[in-house]
Amino acid sequence: MTRIMEARAIHKSYGLVKVLENVDFDLEDGEAHVVIGPNGAGKTTLFRCLSGETRINSGTITLAGDDVTQLAGWERVQRGIGRSFQVARIFPMMSAFENLIVAIETRERKDKGLWSSFGHIAPRHAVMDEAERLVLELGLEDTRDESAGTLSHGDKKRLELAMSLALRPQILMLDEPTAGMSPSDRAEAVRLVSQVRERYGLTLLLTEHDMEVVFGLATRLTVLHHGEIIASGEPHEVRADARVREVYLGQH
Ligand SMILES: Nc1ncnc2c1ncn2[C@@H]1O[C@H](COP(=O)(O)OP(=O)(O)OP(=O)(O)O)[C@@H](O)[C@H]1O
Ligand SMILES: [Mg+2]
Repeated sequence: MTRIMEARAIHKSYGLVKVLENVDFDLEDGEAHVVIGPNGAGKTTLFRCLSGETRINSGTITLAGDDVTQLAGWERVQRGIGRSFQVARIFPMMSAFENLIVAIETRERKDKGLWSSFGHIAPRHAVMDEAERLVLELGLEDTRDESAGTLSHGDKKRLELAMSLALRPQILMLDEPTAGMSPSDRAEAVRLVSQVRERYGLTLLLTEHDMEVVFGLATRLTVLHHGEIIASGEPHEVRADARVREVYLGQH
């Protein structure tokens, strides 16, 4: 396996509150790496540090061997990081389909080095076809023409996922993708995420509280507790770890 992301000795504080302490974190190409830990453990903060949404106090982060510690979030997006709710803002007044068109056109502009969005890029056949394909793949047929703002929670998550995929990231980061879903929507989301992961050859990095989702998706698990990594490894190893059972799984 190739290591595509490497974080070393990350420290992150908000004011006097130390949130991450001396965190080392690796992401291998093609894995589905799930970060778990109790509420307030620092999972979302770790994501924000890795995606460049917030700066770290000390430490280094590399992507494919390049030091990106000083790069802004959008520059890391250019290097293949896709973070669902950051890169895929949904426009509530537009239909699900139109939102997809916007996401695809954003990627096209990016590929052409056109970051400004002056004027309107007429939807070409290729863009339309790709949007239709995403609609099918993510089960958005019934909600295709509905205003995105009126979609159910589950459909909104599906649309977000479709929009993230439209940007063709190498690494897809999902922070609690099944939060607020019913058990059946959850099972469906797991199926969908596994499917797109395989089809697009994605490396997945996600946080999740639901243990069925965690063990349904993870090829590797990392446990954060009070801002420190207390275990990392294959799901069965982490599950058997005494400290993990004590501080986390033991609660359930
Ligand atoms: N912007 C911020 N300013 C100040 N403190 C923050 C900020 N973001 C997070 N924190 C604090 O950092 C700690 C970790 O928060 P974080 O959101 O990373 O935890 P989490 O593991 O994602 O929790 P959850 O499972 O509830 O999503 C918490 O104590 C939180 O209050
Ligand atoms: Mg969180």
